[in-house]
Amino acid sequence: MPLEAWYMDSSDEDQRLPHKLSPNQPVSLDELKKIGVLHWKLNADMHENDPELEKIRKDQGYSFSDVITIQKETLPNYEEKLKMFFEEHLHLDDEIRYILDGQAYFDVRSVCNRWIRIAMGKGDLITLPAGIYHRFTLDQTNYTKAMRLFVGEPVWKAYNRPADDFEKRQQYVASLQCS
Ligand code: LAC
Ligand code: NI
Repeated sequence: MPLEAWYMDSSDEDQRLPHKLSPNQPVSLDELKKIGVLHWKLNADMHENDPELEKIRKDQGYSFSDVITIQKETLPNYEEKLKMFFEEHLHLDDEIRYILDGQAYFDVRSVCNRWIRIAMGKGDLITLPAGIYHRFTLDQTNYTKAMRLFVGEPVWKAYNRPADDFEKRQQYVASLQCS
């Protein structure tokens, strides 16, 4: 299945629900590209020995990797972390995630500051550019296993919105094409 993304509704219901508008307003991969979000589809069953993944890592310089399993039983401080992940934030480096199992949502801000929800499933690898406001949530299955990739030594520091004074943020905003 191709990556599915859509503009979110503004209801305060459970964050784990899809939050689609009615009718649905899909967002294409092209639109995601315009805000610097890149996507690859891989075979997650092969992730330990996958030439395609190796090539991406080499081309993009993703030297670091680890694996995080997000579920109540295995993640220490689960509730607290999930709450933190869903706070709108940015990083000064790209956020790169490869879903090895389960599924989850990444929400990113459109050029015009609307929430776009990206449904990530097994085999989806995504890069969110440094400086983009975003957040993360599990869906109703409450389980995902993801590889975290990074260029060099990982820095997981998140800056909650507002974080507009960072040069990385300003560079990112300048990279967007307003239409
Ligand atoms: C992170 C995701 C949750 O910063 O956005 O790890
Ligand atoms: Ni993040």
